Amino acid sequence: MKSFNTDGDFKNNYKFLIGSILPRPIAVISTLNEDGSNNVAPFSFFTAVSASPMIIAFSPMIKSSNGQMKDTPRNIFREKEFVVNFVSESIVDKINLTSKELAYGEDEFLISGLTPLESEVIKARRIKESPIHFECVYRDHLSYGDEPGCGQIITGEVKKVHISEELYDEGRINTDKFSPVGRGAGNDWILCDHRIELERLMGAQIQK
Ligand SMILES: Cc1cc2nc3c(=O)[nH]c(=O)nc-3n(C[C@H](O)[C@H](O)[C@H](O)COP(=O)(O)O)c2cc1C
Repeated sequence: MKSFNTDGDFKNNYKFLIGSILPRPIAVISTLNEDGSNNVAPFSFFTAVSASPMIIAFSPMIKSSNGQMKDTPRNIFREKEFVVNFVSESIVDKINLTSKELAYGEDEFLISGLTPLESEVIKARRIKESPIHFECVYRDHLSYGDEPGCGQIITGEVKKVHISEELYDEGRINTDKFSPVGRGAGNDWILCDHRIELERLMGAQIQK
């Protein structure tokens, strides 16, 4: 095997993270800018943390272009809320447009052609074309530095979930109808059109 230390250029570490942790789920985070316009951006360093309270976490890194914090964390630290929108195959092209680095305050719904939808318990807007929305209130964060390549964890408590009726069957989310998309290495996006099923071996099952 080849072995590498991780104390060199952060870009090498980044390539190992994105090439090994696969496929990664994608949180498309919508927040409010200071002037009330909408910021939208995808984040694949994203996971579930707790079911009760319902907590999710994602990791925006410091921008490698200018060493500054991305607009999403900047908005979350001020507004204390955000929406996680999920990605179906049918909207990947539009979601990709929201990853463009734009001047602060440019409305990313306008740029992407996605449609803003008012939330019910927070002010940040949801993406109408996305089939699942989590309305989140900021909980806490951990920061690992201020240089390009440094990341941070931001957690949010999900206060309300919304799901498109077509993909909700008897209390379960139908994966085929959801048609979720993950992030791969480089420019790859990963479709979930092939799965295998194995019997669960744990004693207690939440899902039967
Ligand atoms: C599918 C996808 C996943 C991404 N995941 C991350 C991520 O986990 N962390 C990150 O810092 N940037 C990630 N990016 C890049 C950000 O989306 C990009 O820097 C964006 O411009 C940030 O926007 P903001 O400044 O409005 O927050 C990802 C981009 C794409 C297309």
